[in-house]
Amino acid sequence: MKGLKTVFKHWLSLAGFLIFTTSFTISLFLFIVANVLGRGGLYMGLLTYIIGPATMASGMALLLIGLWVQRRRTKKGIEPPPPGVKILNLETPRQRRRLLLFTAAAALFVLISSLASFEAFHYTESVQFCGQLCHKIMEPEHVAYQHSSHARISCVECHVGAGADWFVRSKLSGLYQVYAALTKTYPTPIPTPIHNLRPARETCEHCHWPQKFYNHKMRFESYYLGDETNTRWDLQLVMRLGAEHSSRGQEKGIHWHINSDVRIEYISGEDKKNEIPWVRYTNIQTGESHVYRDEDIDFDERLVTEENIRVMDCIDCHNRPSHDYKSPNRIINDAFTSGEVSTDLPEFKLKAMELLTAEYESSTAAKKTIREGLVEFYVEDHPEFYAANAVLVEQAADLLVREFNRFFFPEMKVRWDTHNNQVGHMQFKGCARCHNNTHISDEGRRIGRDCNSCHVITAQGPYDGMETTSVMNPLVFRHPVDIDGAWQEVLCIECHEGSVY
Ligand code: HEC
Ligand code: HEC
Ligand code: HEC
Ligand code: HEC
Ligand code: HEC
Ligand code: HEC
Repeated sequence: MKGLKTVFKHWLSLAGFLIFTTSFTISLFLFIVANVLGRGGLYMGLLTYIIGPATMASGMALLLIGLWVQRRRTKKGIEPPPPGVKILNLETPRQRRRLLLFTAAAALFVLISSLASFEAFHYTESVQFCGQLCHKIMEPEHVAYQHSSHARISCVECHVGAGADWFVRSKLSGLYQVYAALTKTYPTPIPTPIHNLRPARETCEHCHWPQKFYNHKMRFESYYLGDETNTRWDLQLVMRLGAEHSSRGQEKGIHWHINSDVRIEYISGEDKKNEIPWVRYTNIQTGESHVYRDEDIDFDERLVTEENIRVMDCIDCHNRPSHDYKSPNRIINDAFTSGEVSTDLPEFKLKAMELLTAEYESSTAAKKTIREGLVEFYVEDHPEFYAANAVLVEQAADLLVREFNRFFFPEMKVRWDTHNNQVGHMQFKGCARCHNNTHISDEGRRIGRDCNSCHVITAQGPYDGMETTSVMNPLVFRHPVDIDGAWQEVLCIECHEGSVY
């Protein structure tokens, strides 16, 4: 200690030196533990790569400030110069050794701190950092992500675009988010669309290049009705994603909106999720352009300004590619289809929909109510069935609780109806935000709602009595229950949005 004191006369440099060496040793130790022994975790990463180096840097800064203060005091004659330190004289071997030692130490410091900042950079880019560090806040996005097609790619691959401006933007907004997390000033749910981290079209195109996905896609869906026997109803849809082998052509199809010759712009209305009162289509090749306005929405023309206009991209349709909060209807249909829940359970769909759509204060309360509610229902309304099939009921309750854990987050106020999935038109307005027949241009063109323009139905009906046809000769949609042709008059969401169906 005494030796140190002669080197660092000022208490600041001494403190700086101690802080630096301590945090350096700890960081080095943690680094070795993490990398050589392969141990570690979320908080250790935070300590090793961010807090550790930050403390080291502040120790170093203190040290330098102390030395500087010391020098000024010496210069002003307040204190005598430390003995032995004179003008650098390279002729004496002692001075040469000192200089060499100093240079080596400085080089080592630079090397270690650049390594650390490189690791720190990687660490802030990891799924662990983005998804788990603020577990409660990011839990909905992180959990739903793990059950999406994109579970194996990292958050930043979508949320941070290429180039330095994106890098700065993401780190700045990240800093703010860490602050919001610590001070608990974050909103629930986290608002969507997110402005500074909304994925850009180019980020998707890293993996999905336009030429690749232009192809029709076949979909098979099974639905189940809310009746005594959970009656099954099947549907086969051929999605007209794009004209085959014509990735760059003008042929229409769903991905025509992102064709390089097409630009679709829009302005969203007061209800940001569901209203698009103004749309403009421009053919970049010919310059042809049409503006469509929704006849049913009162729209203030003064809102047509450059800042308000957005160019349509992938995320306007695929807004939930990795945080898709499944709706109760889909959860139950999928559970029947995968065989995880038996369709023998009388009235299961009806009861399960009721339990999943109810509002809950907390996840713990929800899980308890769902489990007990289901068992109680069978005990009271179907006692004979329950007596013989208690195991099936238990399994079904397990499934509901599991799915609730994956897609419902009462603490963050997140569930399917707070985050619309816009690829479709049955439970959310989706395509029908524009394709609803009420968007009309000055020339009288409408953004159409013809069922066959986006997909054709090639099979439909009850499992044991399907009607089928070929793609060339599509079927007219048959609604699974008789609603007197209402589906032709009103949008599907009039009955299906957020509802128990
Ligand atoms: C496949 C691309 C993709 C990946 C991977 C991805 N996201 Fe997202 N994320 C999106 C899109 C698209 C949106 C919606 C943007 C919009 O609607 O404007 C979004 C929205 C969000 C939001 C805003 C709230 C919401 O639900 O809309 C948060 C927070 C978020 N993501 C966090 C994460 C985290 C944490 C990870 C990693 C665990 C992650 N994201 C991985 C594409 C992705
Ligand atoms: C790092 C590569 C990568 C990036 C970036 C990426 N994806 Fe994907 N995406 C994939 C892979 C791989 C699959 C196939 C997964 C499978 O088949 O199970 C996929 C599947 C899909 C699917 C079809 C499966 C589904 O769930 O419907 C859609 C739609 C999709 N991605 C949209 C997007 C959008 C929109 C973005 C940009 C926000 C994006 N992807 C960014 C790799 C990526
Ligand atoms: C007009 C809305 C819309 C836009 C814009 C859009 N898509 Fe799609 N995309 C769809 C629909 C609808 C499907 C079929 C979904 C289905 O059947 O699951 C689809 C399917 C896909 C698939 C899955 C293809 C397959 O064979 O499984 C990928 C990948 C995809 N889109 C990526 C993108 C990317 C990347 C962009 C932006 C460059 C984009 N989409 C823009 C509506 C759109
Ligand atoms: C922001 C508004 C907007 C949204 C949202 C939108 N579209 Fe479009 N779509 C348009 C416009 C505008 C046209 C061109 C209408 C015209 O030709 O006058 C169009 C044309 C189409 C066409 C070509 C129709 C034809 O005449 O052959 C298809 C197919 C299509 N859209 C499918 C979809 C699907 C599927 C979705 C939802 C996943 C969707 N669109 C969402 C604006 C939109
Ligand atoms: C603008 C394009 C478009 C139009 C017009 C359109 N659909 Fe769809 N339809 C879609 C898309 C996109 C999906 C969703 C595919 C998916 O879930 O990935 C879909 C899904 C469906 C489904 C399956 C529902 C589900 O969510 O599982 C049915 C049934 C259906 N459409 C019937 C119709 C009928 C009937 C009409 C005419 C009144 C119609 N569609 C008009 C684009 C369209
Ligand atoms: C007038 C109200 C109404 C309209 C409009 C309507 N539906 Fe339905 N739909 C119902 C009712 C009621 C049921 C039966 C629900 C049940 O038994 O659980 C149903 C059931 C369904 C089912 C099977 C149940 C399931 O798993 O989802 C599908 C699929 C469906 N409707 C698709 C559509 C489509 C696609 C449209 C728009 C083209 C549409 N419906 C428009 C009232 C409506």
